[in-house]
Amino acid sequence: MNQHNRFNPFSSRILERTLLTGSGSTKKTYHLALDLAGSGIAYNPGDSIAILPENDPAEVDLFLKAAQCTGDEPLFDPRSQTEYSLRDYLQCKANLHKPSPAFLRKLPSPPLEDKTVSELVAGAAFSYQEIPSLLLPLLPRFYSIASSQHLYPNEVHLTVASVSYLAGGKIRHGVGTHFLCDRATVGATKVPLYIQSSHGFSLPADPHASIILVGPGTGVAPYRAFLQERLFKQAPGGNWLFFGERHRKHDFYYADFWLALEKEKRLRLDLAFSRDGNEKVYVQHRMWENRKDLWAWIEEGAYFYVCGDAKEMAKDVEAMLQRIFASEGGLSEEEARRKIKALRMEKRYLADVY
Ligand SMILES: Cc1cc2nc3c(=O)[nH]c(=O)nc-3n(C[C@H](O)[C@H](O)[C@H](O)COP(=O)(O)OP(=O)(O)OC[C@H]3O[C@@H](n4cnc5c(N)ncnc54)[C@H](O)[C@@H]3O)c2cc1C
Ligand SMILES: NC(=O)c1ccc[n+]([C@@H]2O[C@H](COP(=O)([O-])OP(=O)(O)OC[C@H]3O[C@@H](n4cnc5c(N)ncnc54)[C@H](OP(=O)(O)O)[C@@H]3O)[C@@H](O)[C@H]2O)c1
Repeated sequence: MNQHNRFNPFSSRILERTLLTGSGSTKKTYHLALDLAGSGIAYNPGDSIAILPENDPAEVDLFLKAAQCTGDEPLFDPRSQTEYSLRDYLQCKANLHKPSPAFLRKLPSPPLEDKTVSELVAGAAFSYQEIPSLLLPLLPRFYSIASSQHLYPNEVHLTVASVSYLAGGKIRHGVGTHFLCDRATVGATKVPLYIQSSHGFSLPADPHASIILVGPGTGVAPYRAFLQERLFKQAPGGNWLFFGERHRKHDFYYADFWLALEKEKRLRLDLAFSRDGNEKVYVQHRMWENRKDLWAWIEEGAYFYVCGDAKEMAKDVEAMLQRIFASEGGLSEEEARRKIKALRMEKRYLADVY
């Protein structure tokens, strides 16, 4: 039984942080190993880790300077019924990026540009005691677990894509990924975490059942855990992975692991590198090319999993599966839709998308 949760996280440390993307990549995606020794934490493939990140101290300093505070001011947080120093509160508890409606009402006029709370605070009229009610809370960030605890009893592995983007004329970093990928010192910085159970996105109970795994980008993370677990347990069911990223040369995450499994005939592997050719190739195009076998696997009882981007990919993959059901099963559009619904009800169509 895990005793750690959002209000009582385990204080972990990063044991290892390695770049999965090559030097020519347009992304920075990291493999992280976090220490669980002494935590009593148990996890299963399909579970996620919730990380409680800290804001960048430079951003906190910016806020304090603009608010003409030292950071030593005591602050009572009614949400947690805890007293903090203002600096600690801003560092660990407050969302310094997205201004709340209550905070915006404290400004003389609405901001014209996309600005962070720290950039707007100079013009706002409030007393520091109001901060807990004016700022949104800093929420946990979730990451799919990429390891099996049978292989790593005292570790948990993650696959984290660093987020940075241009807004309001400045380069912005995602709070959680900047903390994990850039700011935390390996072996030293405390990383508060707890387990978020999968709620159904898990391996079939029957080890003979086959699994079809669709996971472009960081969506591949849980499948590393799935495959490690299935190999450890010598599950005889078939394993089929559809992975996609931008470039094979730079962005083929955990390539050695997948290619070795393919060589040993423990894994069927289909790859879609979207920016290697003149035309975009996505995982769903590989599904279509392999539609006869895909239909046969499903008809023989395979479980279908999709993980990664929710906005476009997951919908397009579902639409492709529906098209394959119609084409290979001779089903009408409505019948194919109902078949997907039935698979969902049977918990044989499982999605973990974000
Ligand atoms: C169940 C689950 C599992 C997940 N698993 C993983 C995983 O295995 N690996 C992984 O890397 N992530 C995973 N995520 C996503 C992860 O939780 C975070 O959302 C992600 O890392 C970004 O967090 P952040 O704190 O760095 O960014 P934030 O500080 O939260 O910033 C992200 C926000 O920045 C803004 N933004 C981002 N890009 C742009 C842009 N180009 N232009 C303008 N605004 C932009 C958007 O408002 C966006 O919501 C998962 C999410 C869930 C819910
Ligand atoms: N806001 C942003 O700018 C931004 C940027 C990156 C990621 N993200 C988010 O971060 C999460 C994870 O991203 P990630 O880095 O793991 O990878 P990702 O952005 O999901 O990309 C992985 C691969 O999927 C491809 N892809 C894009 N659209 C697709 C579609 N409709 N169907 C199938 N494949 C598609 C990408 O190709 P192409 O890139 O060549 O099209 C790439 O090859 C997602 O939630 C994503 O939405 C946001």
